[in-house]
Amino acid sequence: MTVTPLKMLVVGAGDRGRTYASFAKTYPDQLRIVGVAEPNPANRDFFAKEHALPTEAQWPDWREALAARPAADAVAICTPDALHLDPALAFLDAGYHLLLEKPMARSWNECRRLDEKVRQTRRLVLVGHVLRYTNYFSKLKQLIAGGEIGDVVSIQHLEPVAYMHAAHSFCRGNWGNTKRSTPMILQKCCHDFDQFVWWLGKRCLRVSSFGGLRHFRPENRPAGAADRCLDCPAAVERDCPFSARKIYLERDTYRYPFVDRTDDGMAAMLRDSPYGRCVYACDNDAVDHQIVNLLFEGGVTVSHLMESYTYTGGRQTKVFGTRGEIIGDGRKLQIHHFSNRTTSVWDSVLEAGPSGSGHGGGDFGIVRELIRQLREGSPADHLAAFEMSLESHKIAFAAEASRLALGEVQIL
Ligand SMILES: NC(=O)c1ccc[n+]([C@@H]2O[C@H](COP(=O)([O-])OP(=O)(O)OC[C@H]3O[C@@H](n4cnc5c(N)ncnc54)[C@H](O)[C@@H]3O)[C@@H](O)[C@H]2O)c1
Repeated sequence: MTVTPLKMLVVGAGDRGRTYASFAKTYPDQLRIVGVAEPNPANRDFFAKEHALPTEAQWPDWREALAARPAADAVAICTPDALHLDPALAFLDAGYHLLLEKPMARSWNECRRLDEKVRQTRRLVLVGHVLRYTNYFSKLKQLIAGGEIGDVVSIQHLEPVAYMHAAHSFCRGNWGNTKRSTPMILQKCCHDFDQFVWWLGKRCLRVSSFGGLRHFRPENRPAGAADRCLDCPAAVERDCPFSARKIYLERDTYRYPFVDRTDDGMAAMLRDSPYGRCVYACDNDAVDHQIVNLLFEGGVTVSHLMESYTYTGGRQTKVFGTRGEIIGDGRKLQIHHFSNRTTSVWDSVLEAGPSGSGHGGGDFGIVRELIRQLREGSPADHLAAFEMSLESHKIAFAAEASRLALGEVQIL
């Protein structure tokens, strides 16, 4: 049987838009990109070339793309955080299904508006919780839900942001200023909250949270440091762990969001863009550490720490059950059984499974799920997928409210 590829319009051809669209390059029989809405000419041209899009399938803004009513089944909304709700509501009204980047919206009220629209239009809205589609977290979910360690009593979870990633994204970059984007606990940890809800299959009832911005502040700026790293005296710059020279010129890990990743391109970017700024001279207000305690139905407790000052990333989890314990380092899961005192180890790298994309295979995994849901899923399945994503956002907003109020928040 021949199956025609799903047709997708991409709104926002930055890092995420390019990543999801690259599925179509690897699996052209399953996905076809039929248009792009993107105001930045360099990003738009790059994307249009990648996907051989004619000029009439390129627009500088999502509104113009919408007005043209492209023949697409789904729209991937990959715009900055502040620009999710309006295009999402409008494309739903026009009858499109959505792959909507997280966070779905910037406040709980906005999430509820979206929920109403999803129910009214009965479209699929798959929110970008890519971790659900990785081998590693799927296995962890399967072990917990399958009762491998008995009843879960509590979970200890660490989201190590990594000091370079914190400087890149949450100080200099898109998410440093929460008034322009969203609180870091929503932005970074709606993934983690989504995982807890998914693993446990339970609702969260109460939340308390503490945290703040400890280090990336003007008063911590070393004497003599310049406003931009390229202008910083060598003796000061050499000693700075967050130097943009070190992060972007001496290594290429954080070149991925930029279209021109050459040394010359990076040097120009450091001269002119926000990414060349001293971390102590930015307009950032995002926290750099936040701890959240959660109480789930059935009395299950979860303690979650988001921490910027770690050497590497990779979520770490300990799940404590009545019959055993699971310890996960982001790659391997160690399963300790109490009854016979045995330990087994499951290694995601040794397991065959969908991979070949970022976020442990989750970036392509979610596109596969979009295609699967649109081919096989019922409207009830579509709604269930969206409703589960709502829970993670509800927890994140409650955590931020608790942090700001220095008090516990009950989730209604
Ligand atoms: N699911 C995940 O794991 C994950 C990871 C990183 C980022 N994100 C989220 O994805 C979204 C995009 O992040 P990114 O890293 O790709 O950012 P980005 O800055 O690389 O890309 C955003 C793009 O949207 C474009 N844009 C701005 N206004 C627009 C408009 N009116 N119409 C169309 N396009 C417009 C920008 O020019 C830019 O190219 C953010 O909300 C972010 O929080 C999700």
